[in-house]
Amino acid sequence: MTVKRKLIAGNWKMNASFSSNEALVKALVTGLDALKAQVGQPSLPDVLVCPPAPYWAQVSALLEGSSIAQGAQDVSEHDKGAYTGELSLSMLKEFKVDHVILGHSERRRYQFQNDSLICHKVFQAMNAGLTPIVCVGETQDEREQGQTWAVIKRQVMSALSMLPVDFDRVVVAYEPVWAIGTGLTATPVMAQEVHAYIRSLLEPRTTHAKALRILYGGSMNAANAQALLAQPDVDGGLIGSAALSSSDFLSIISSAVARNP
Ligand code: PGA
Repeated sequence: MTVKRKLIAGNWKMNASFSSNEALVKALVTGLDALKAQVGQPSLPDVLVCPPAPYWAQVSALLEGSSIAQGAQDVSEHDKGAYTGELSLSMLKEFKVDHVILGHSERRRYQFQNDSLICHKVFQAMNAGLTPIVCVGETQDEREQGQTWAVIKRQVMSALSMLPVDFDRVVVAYEPVWAIGTGLTATPVMAQEVHAYIRSLLEPRTTHAKALRILYGGSMNAANAQALLAQPDVDGGLIGSAALSSSDFLSIISSAVARNP
């Protein structure tokens, strides 16, 4: 049986500088090499970093020759033109950015992005050959009012609604809004419940549902990663704060090493 590789993705958000990026990426590349020497390439998870756009060139140069991929934190749904402040998919591709986070709760909240816009972005990203990481998650209020399942269903179904039957490249990230940057984390049991539900929503849409990766995000750190990643439907993590520390991020990567493949 082939074991699904986990995906450990770092979302740096608006945290970066030439000097901090250099130190972080160099430490990650060295640390991942050391881990590879220990456990072998086949057991390593896939690793991705998503820096702010002005640093893509620097980060892709630093990642040259390593197995770490680079992602963006958002992208325009338009190809080009008069869209001040936006970045296009072709720009991402020129910088070897092959993943893109879409529908992050901070973009939904501060940039007023809605389900319909996110659905168009997912469609365009897939058409351009990138892998979208589609973020979904309920707020504290929605959880307390028992709306978690309805919110997740609405966000997942809407985000994927324009994709052809049998899509095979999307990553979904379950990020409960109340757990992002707060130090609160969904328990492994809570995360597993929602992940299994998300997979059940994917099943009627694609025969690849079992192979698609569903990441957990929301205060994942070196201390809780092992237990979260041990859940059968938790296929990796989307990590914010802890992705800014090379030792924390490497420790999360070690927690995702495949055991007894
Ligand atoms: P956090 O952020 O790990 O700091 O909670 C996760 C995210 O927003 O992707």
